[in-house]
Amino acid sequence: MLGALIITAVVYDLGILGGGQLGRMSIMAAQRMGLKCLSLDPDAESPAAQIGPSLVGALNDPSKIASVISSCGRVTLENEFIEADAIRKACRIAGASETVLMPGLDCLATIQDKLNQREALARLNVPAPRASALGSIVDAEALGFPVVIKARFGGYDGRGTRYAKDVQDLEALRGEWGSGGWLVEEFVPFRRELAVMAYVGERGSGSFPTMETVQRDHVCDLVYPCDADGSAIAMRAVESVGGVGLFGVELFQLDDGRLLVNEIAPRPHNTGHYSLDWGGVSQFEQHVRLALGLPLAPPKGEPTCMANLLGQVDTGEYRAALAAALEEPGARVHWYGKKESRPGRKMGHINVAGKGDILAAAKRARELFYGAWTAR
Ligand SMILES: Nc1ncnc2c1ncn2[C@@H]1O[C@H](COP(=O)(O)OP(=O)(O)O)[C@@H](O)[C@H]1O
Ligand SMILES: [Mg+2]
Repeated sequence: MLGALIITAVVYDLGILGGGQLGRMSIMAAQRMGLKCLSLDPDAESPAAQIGPSLVGALNDPSKIASVISSCGRVTLENEFIEADAIRKACRIAGASETVLMPGLDCLATIQDKLNQREALARLNVPAPRASALGSIVDAEALGFPVVIKARFGGYDGRGTRYAKDVQDLEALRGEWGSGGWLVEEFVPFRRELAVMAYVGERGSGSFPTMETVQRDHVCDLVYPCDADGSAIAMRAVESVGGVGLFGVELFQLDDGRLLVNEIAPRPHNTGHYSLDWGGVSQFEQHVRLALGLPLAPPKGEPTCMANLLGQVDTGEYRAALAAALEEPGARVHWYGKKESRPGRKMGHINVAGKGDILAAAKRARELFYGAWTAR
């Protein structure tokens, strides 16, 4: 008798590891072009699961990842926290080449450790804050206070980022960094923060326009066009981590105009959401095209501003808030469908494209949204 016969067939064009908003918007872009996607997420009602087929499972479970790989022509991700080793094992289980993954496993492994990322940038002499592993106070003293300390793995929205202006501050934080896994870097007194979506693929490479970004409590708050050009340093940053695909490159600009790389994300990025409404190719569509080796579109469009919609305390009816925001002509509301709205959580965003004071319009629309959402 024959043993169990496992039939695996590629039925999806693209697998996406992670079912958050970045996965959801990538899937929307793929669906628009008639392509089929499968997402993987522990939550059966994740933002991505609400709009298409999804496999329920832990993101670090090699067997679940292998299932995605087996049924998808190509696989990409929407966060950099999935252990590269889990994906490597999954490729072996599925009998697939490691090249099935965009952005590439070595690139992912480099990026998911913020210290490795800094070292990769340093190897190509890409300007970035000086950094080292944080083992003792001496490491911070070697850089000079004030310093910023960061969890090497898993940090986002400022969750793994702390400031220390002197030894006392750093001592007070010892409970967090004392057991290891942190880096220390020089505090950069930047004038402003910028971001560039840059891409490298078999059909070409390039970058979207440089945007100015404002973080509030370490969470991206506003994104709008600016006069600086960070494309060259962003492309060098991507080169330093050796990947293929779409990357969000966060930059610091100093008073004298110089640019430093803060961090690189190997996926669509919050600072690229403006491209959903700018009239040209969106970051998500370019991401899908890159993953599938399709011809790329020139990243050109109208000036567009974005305001993030974050979870608030004591929120009410979403539909009332949507209706209020749409009172602002030109406001385009995007909502991710997250089940739970926790204060500070990214729930959606508003874009305004075109001429005039579009930043003021995006902020006004957001005020209208929050006003109606939190009204009692
Ligand atoms: N070296 C630094 N000097 C000054 N501010 C910093 C530094 N590193 C990070 N920050 C601030 O903290 C924010 C979050 O840090 P970041 O490294 O981007 O972590 P996350 O992964 O949470 O986005 C940055 O956008 C910036 O505002
Ligand atoms: Mg960041």
